[in-house]
Amino acid sequence: MAEVLEKNNNQSLRLVQITDSHLFADRSTIFDGLNTFETLKDIVALVAAQQQNIGCILCTGDLTQDSSVEAYHHFIDALSPLEAPQLWIPGNHDIRSQMQQVLDQNSIHLCRSAQLGDWRIIMLNSSVEGQVYGLLDQKELADLDLELADSERSNSHVLICVHHNCLPVEAAWLQQHSLKNSDELFEITDRYSYVKGILYGHIHQEFEAIRNGVRIMGTPSTCIQFHPTNNEFTIDNENPGYRWLDLEPDGTINSRVERIQDKAYNIDFDSTGY
Ligand SMILES: [Fe+2]
Ligand SMILES: [Fe+2]
Repeated sequence: MAEVLEKNNNQSLRLVQITDSHLFADRSTIFDGLNTFETLKDIVALVAAQQQNIGCILCTGDLTQDSSVEAYHHFIDALSPLEAPQLWIPGNHDIRSQMQQVLDQNSIHLCRSAQLGDWRIIMLNSSVEGQVYGLLDQKELADLDLELADSERSNSHVLICVHHNCLPVEAAWLQQHSLKNSDELFEITDRYSYVKGILYGHIHQEFEAIRNGVRIMGTPSTCIQFHPTNNEFTIDNENPGYRWLDLEPDGTINSRVERIQDKAYNIDFDSTGY
């Protein structure tokens, strides 16, 4: 069922999450004061400097802002210095059929799940065409249930990736755009002890929580950051970032967010939307 990306068991796996790059067909486009193609390239350079032996790169949606095929090609170009397989899921700004058109490379997967040694990575599509909020339809939930049962049979620890946040954020404007049926997601995950982590993008900020023994993680965008508490749309002054994760054979997840240091960006803090 799962694509096998890595066969080695009993060793730590280093993964990298890159999320919410919001690229455009025109690489020179400025978005809330930032050139999103350039900030993505800055993040890739930071990853290349900090990480070795990346088992896989998790690309958790809003890869593009305009969902153009050209923008997906730019995403592939920007990540080309990193020689690791990529797992993609769509965000609210993506169109899955457009993503599919650029998947002519063996190293990029728009798949349900991947097996990396002792770990199963499950990719869920929470995007709803024309909507900012997220929803897992009945097929996604049924597939998740099957994947978790299969993971349990093979004693595989599980990391679930989804674009939308399944736990609340404080900022009211952003909270209305969350995953609408987190309760249905948790009703399934609560039945399987092998679920160790749930990872998302979308909220353009770092987030960490433990729910029912499962580590829940949100990750900064490679471009603009959202202020975590202001109830109106507000851009935060944090720099672009990414997350690395070490998945250990005993089911432990070690993880940290890294951000661009020592570079000032010309962010448009007066922007009223994105
Ligand atoms: Fe986003
Ligand atoms: Fe999003």
